[in-house]
Amino acid sequence: MANYEKLDHWSLRAQKEGYPARSVYKLKEMDEKFGLFPAGRNRSNPFRVLDLGAAPGSWSLYALRKLGGGLFLSAADLSPLSRQYDKGLFGGDNVFFIQGDITAAETRKALLAHGPYALVMSDAAPATMGNRSVDTLRSLTLAEMALDYAEAALEKGGNLAVKVFQGGDTADILKRIRELFKTGKSFKPAACRRESFETYYLGLERR
Ligand SMILES: C[S@@+](CC[C@H](N)C(=O)[O-])C[C@H]1O[C@@H](n2cnc3c(N)ncnc32)[C@H](O)[C@@H]1O
Repeated sequence: MANYEKLDHWSLRAQKEGYPARSVYKLKEMDEKFGLFPAGRNRSNPFRVLDLGAAPGSWSLYALRKLGGGLFLSAADLSPLSRQYDKGLFGGDNVFFIQGDITAAETRKALLAHGPYALVMSDAAPATMGNRSVDTLRSLTLAEMALDYAEAALEKGGNLAVKVFQGGDTADILKRIRELFKTGKSFKPAACRRESFETYYLGLERR
């Protein structure tokens, strides 16, 4: 692990607050700004969320802690979720997790079968190679896939939050988001590393 990671303020805070990754603070900030997770839902009328690229599980854990039994969560990743901090939450009957590739047909089929969703969120990112154009291209595929899930499984009025790497051909993604949602915007949370070229696109209120 690089030195800057060891000393990073957000990583230390995540550890202290029992989250497996610092990325939770990016979601928290987007939730505080855009109201992604509503209060007042319950088991008989749960808020349904799809979390793409969910491991090690901070975003999923944030949603489960915030909504409790008022959440139904579907999550997918190539890697398993970390059980270090979840205190059994990931084993609940309101959680469906599939370890698989979100671009694969069988993963898509399983996730769509648990929809429709009120929120699709994707923090999916390729393992970076250090070659910016390759990394950006691979990230673009994942962002397009998240948009495909939103088109296929997001209910009317639902929201989308998706990570993109800046510098690639992301204008088309934002354009498609603006066609599908009443509002489409770009937002870079404070917890993104200063040197990172990631940002998030938000689609608010699916038409
Ligand atoms: C930045 S991490 C997500 C962190 C997560 N939001 C959290 O808060 O714990 C990006 C994740 O995307 C996943 N990923 C990348 N490509 C994927 C794919 N094709 N299918 C599923 N997951 C993928 C990686 O395995 C990695 O766990």
